[in-house]
Amino acid sequence: MDKILVRGGRPLSGDIVIGGAKNASLPLMTAGMLTDARLTLTNVPRLADIATMSALISQHGVAVEVRGGTVGGNDGRTLSIGGAISNTEAPYDIVRKMRASILVLGPLLARVGEARVSLPGGCAIGTRPIDLHLKGLEQMGAEIALDGGYVNAKAPRGLHGATIVLPFASVGATENILMAATLADGQTVLANAAREPEIGDLVACLIAMGARIEGAGTDRLTIEGVKRLHAATHEIVADRIETATFACAAAIAGGSVRLLGGRLEHLGAVVSTLAQAGVEITQDGDALAVRRLNGLHGVDAMTEPYPGFPTDAQAQFMAVMAVAEGASMLTENIFENRFMHVPELTRMGANINVHGSSAIVRGVLRLSGAQVMATDLRASVSLILAGLAAQGETTVNRVYHLDRGYEAVERKLAAVGADIERVAG
Ligand code: EPZ
Repeated sequence: MDKILVRGGRPLSGDIVIGGAKNASLPLMTAGMLTDARLTLTNVPRLADIATMSALISQHGVAVEVRGGTVGGNDGRTLSIGGAISNTEAPYDIVRKMRASILVLGPLLARVGEARVSLPGGCAIGTRPIDLHLKGLEQMGAEIALDGGYVNAKAPRGLHGATIVLPFASVGATENILMAATLADGQTVLANAAREPEIGDLVACLIAMGARIEGAGTDRLTIEGVKRLHAATHEIVADRIETATFACAAAIAGGSVRLLGGRLEHLGAVVSTLAQAGVEITQDGDALAVRRLNGLHGVDAMTEPYPGFPTDAQAQFMAVMAVAEGASMLTENIFENRFMHVPELTRMGANINVHGSSAIVRGVLRLSGAQVMATDLRASVSLILAGLAAQGETTVNRVYHLDRGYEAVERKLAAVGADIERVAG
């Protein structure tokens, strides 16, 4: 298994290209199953999760062609998706590797009226139920039974529109219901819908495919079903979590970087939170300029649905707070177990105490390099960030977690001055 070595103490300076968003790419790929015409996606990041989703969609019989692009370059990579569905089962051995596999459920039901999708099971950060996905689809006429660890869903008479109120603004439930509604008979109103920029990107792509959707960017989506969707080409939105990650890298290492493709309005509360911590982020043309002004100050933060502070940036921000002056209380409101990076940061000398869903971080003068273990995608990258500020060498093991969601992160950081390398294990 590969590992990443980081030797701390070097400030960052230069430009970093932000890739297409992982969490937009995955639902956009399953949107390609809504039509046998071809959906062309550009600016697709080169990630393990994209390869897993390509394999999943292909085994449903839908062709996924890969074209062009270079790793870490800003030309991204182009996928072309489309074709008839010949298999409606999403098997456990693929779904267990990537929870976003559940996003084939809505398209399968909408397109062919049946689906047998393995329950994703939990993951490191929580039980991750899908009850809101299933309840919404049932309101649209799907008959759903669970057996043998699988969701068996049928809509023999097709799906019909419904008024659905989500008790929680679930990103995945919003995406599954939205995609199903584009081909349902009649109008669907989805209230308390998630408003993450990835949802807006999915709405824009579906409209380009001929869907009739109103309310993009708001928590109320109104969808008029149509008979079929047609071919389209869509450029995937820049990854706001990758953007937040590299902003935290500049914060913890010091210096200033320009994040090419980053969008201020997609960072939500990250901007104000980092500003309070002593890091300035400004839009500079089609890039974001990130600069640590003086020292870092402890700031409290609570993770919330967009535009609140994103849960996917909580681990990265905690690494920054570990070396800030003063204390910080970080509260994780979205997932029930998203503090696996705490014991590893503590091994590097961080002073962190977890009380339920809150972690009290007391800044220390300096972290020390150590052997640490990646446990999930965002925890992995928070350890690399900590290594940028640590004295000595940090070895991050099990970086396959990292490869699920970050393209060439060590190369991007090395290009702006970090002393970092990947070692094949
Ligand atoms: C998406 O996961 C993202 N994944 C996650 O990113 C992200 O952390 C999350 O949204 C929140 O922003 C993708 O987009 C592929 P949710 P998702 O449904 O859709 C509960 C990363 O690191 N819930 O908004 O699974 C759930 O347990 C990943 O890139 C239900 O109870 O998130 C969780 O506590 C991690 N029932 C909360 O809602 C349901 O039916 C948020 O879940 C669905 C969700």
